[in-house]
This record gives sequence, C-alpha cells and structure tokens, in this order.
Amino acid sequence: MGDLVIYGSYGYTGTLIAEAAVDRGEDPVLAGRERRSLESQAARLGCAFEVVGLDEPEVLDRLLDDATAVLNCAGPFSRTAESMVEACLRTGTHYLDITGEIEVFEALHDRDAAAEEASVMLLPGVGFDVVPTDCLAAHLAERLPDADSLELAIRAEHGISRGTATTMVEHVEDGCAVRTDGELQTVPLAHERRTVDFGWGHDDEPTATFPWGDVSTAYYTTGIPNIRVSMAMDDRAVQAIRLADRLSSVLAAPAVKQPLKWYVQRTMDGPDAQERATAHSYVWGEVRTDDGERAVSRLRCPHGYALTVETALLCAGRVLDGDAPPGFQTPAGAYGPDLILDVDGVEREDVN
Ligand SMILES: NC(=O)c1ccc[n+]([C@@H]2O[C@H](COP(=O)([O-])OP(=O)(O)OC[C@H]3O[C@@H](n4cnc5c(N)ncnc54)[C@H](OP(=O)(O)O)[C@@H]3O)[C@@H](O)[C@H]2O)c1
Repeated sequence: MGDLVIYGSYGYTGTLIAEAAVDRGEDPVLAGRERRSLESQAARLGCAFEVVGLDEPEVLDRLLDDATAVLNCAGPFSRTAESMVEACLRTGTHYLDITGEIEVFEALHDRDAAAEEASVMLLPGVGFDVVPTDCLAAHLAERLPDADSLELAIRAEHGISRGTATTMVEHVEDGCAVRTDGELQTVPLAHERRTVDFGWGHDDEPTATFPWGDVSTAYYTTGIPNIRVSMAMDDRAVQAIRLADRLSSVLAAPAVKQPLKWYVQRTMDGPDAQERATAHSYVWGEVRTDDGERAVSRLRCPHGYALTVETALLCAGRVLDGDAPPGFQTPAGAYGPDLILDVDGVEREDVN
C-alpha cells in the first residue's frame, strides 16, 4: 500500500486506520498539517510522512503526484474535502474519505463529471457512515426492485470520538434531512419516532429521525426516491436533541460554536480499545412499494469505529488493486451489497 496516502493520520480515527494498515504489512504515507504529531507517529509506525496544509495546493499536488489514492480522515470534511478532491482531480488520484456529512456527499456528487473526465474515483463515506447502511440499502433494493421508500435505522452501543462530536457541533444548525420524491428536505431533528426490531435481542427499540449520510448516498445507490434514517434513542435523548434543535440559531453563533468545539476537543477522547473490541452496532432496513409490498433485513456489525477501520481499509485495498470505477461512487454502488460481509464479525439476516 505504498501508494496510499492517509491524510489526517494522527487524529483518533486516522491513527486507528494507520496502525491497522501497518499491522497488516502495508506501507502508507502519513500526512497532515501538524509536523510534531506526524513526526512521532511516522517514527513509531516506520512510515514516510509529509507535512501539508490543505491551503497549499502546490505542496498538496506534490504529495499526491506519486500516489494512487488518498484516504482523507481529516474532518469535519465540509472544511477539508473540497481542497483534497480538487488536488485529486488535478493529479489523477483516487479520493476516499470517512465523512458522514450530507452536504459533503452532495458536493462530491456534483463533481461526478469532472471525476469521470479525470478518470478519478470519488468514494466518500467508507466508514461506519455509510458502508453498512449503504450495503443494506442495496441488498433491500435487490430484494424488492420496485421499492419506492427506504427506511434505515441504526443502533450504536458506543460513544463517539471528539472528531465526530466536533463535526456534529459544526452542523448544529443544519437540522435533520430526509429525501422525499428524490429531493432532500430539511426537517427538525428527531421529528419522527418509531420502534424498530434490530434483532439479536434488541427488539422494540425506540428510534427517532437523525441526519445520516444515506439520505444522500442511498438515493444514488438504489434510486429509491423516499429515504429516512433514524437512530436508536430513548426519551431523554429525544428531548435533548429537540432542545438543541430549538436552540440551534443560538448554538450556531460563532461566539458559542467556537467555544463548544474547543470544549469538545479538550475534554473528549474516544472509545477505548476494550470498548471497540466488545461493543456492537446494528443496522435495520425496510423497503416498501406503492402497493404495500415490504422487505426487511438487518445487520449486526462490530463497534462503529472498529468497523470504520475495516471498511476504510477494505475499500482502499480494492482501489489499490485497480478496482476503482471513475466518477462519484457510493460503497455499495461500486462494490455491491455484499461488500459489508467481507468484514469479520458482520452478520446479515432477511426478516420479511
Ligand atoms: N464515517 C464514519 O463512520 C466516521 C467514523 C469515524 C470518524 N468519522 C469522522 O472523521 C472525522 C475525524 O474524526 P476523529 O475522531 O478522527 O477526529 P480527530 O481526532 O479530531 O482528528 C481530526 C483530524 O483531522 C485533522 N484536521 C481537521 N481539520 C483539518 C483541516 N482543516 N486541515 C487539515 N487537517 C485537519 C486534524 O488535524 P489537526 O489536529 O492538525 O487539526 C486531525 O488529524 C470526523 O469528521 C468524524 O465525524 C466518521
């Protein structure tokens, strides 16, 4: 994997991915904007490294000139993806990232023609968001090809990293999104609730609508025009999220948002190794046709951050092996619904 660049390699998730790549005998180039962190990480892992800011296009081009692909782990991606994608298009480098941000998926989809012309693959969302949900959506669309609506639900038994929390603060004013008749619509957070049977002993779990990347990506993967995603949460979490939604204009003010991000960065860490090794995540999906036909399937997966490491390296491996269809791609669009089953510990079952 000498021609894979991992950008943002010293963040929480970037570190997990870089360490796993090296453990498996790969040789990625580590990159980011902070020399001291990179120097010590590169020495520890025995990798080459480059210090590059995203506001330095010429240096970025030199970093990518000899690379086959870059895996961008530097988020929020609304602040990093555009510069990296443009550098990829200039240098003919395949682009992967671990975003879950709806606006980033949409912005990269807008670069589809440019990517095709440059023979470059743009594959955002190779983490927990959106590989398992995208694969389940594609599987359900195969089971019920005339489906008109798709509902996905996620149950994560674990906490989040500081980068995920920072990204949530970054988007605090965005509300929630759903797809209706093919168009993205903004709706309040947690505005709809339903009970979901996630299986494996987790039946009757309350969920509420949540802004997850599939309202963008599952549409491109399956063509299904109505998409909702919800997250398992109890009454208290729903009340807290609805309150944050109502206060979003206050929380979004720079005088509040910046200190909030600072607080998150200083106080949060991320799930530890024991939690990553033992907790699970669950994905449930349902498709329906206009005339009432229905199919339900679900997945049990490893911990979300452990899964992110596996799916990111799985997709990067495919790309480096030359399986990199040009243009904007989704994980299941490029590699099919069974991609997720290549990850150890993932189980899928068809319910209805
Ligand atoms: N798809 C998924 O399921 C999934 C899974 C895990 C994480 N994520 C996402 O991945 C992102 C990273 O999460 P994390 O927990 O690893 O965060 P983290 O520990 O805060 O690390 C963030 C990394 O990004 C770099 N970075 C941020 N802004 C940058 C910029 N403008 N230019 C250059 N580098 C920049 C940081 O470098 P500095 O320290 O120099 O700022 C750091 O290396 C978040 O957006 C998170 O939501 C998604």
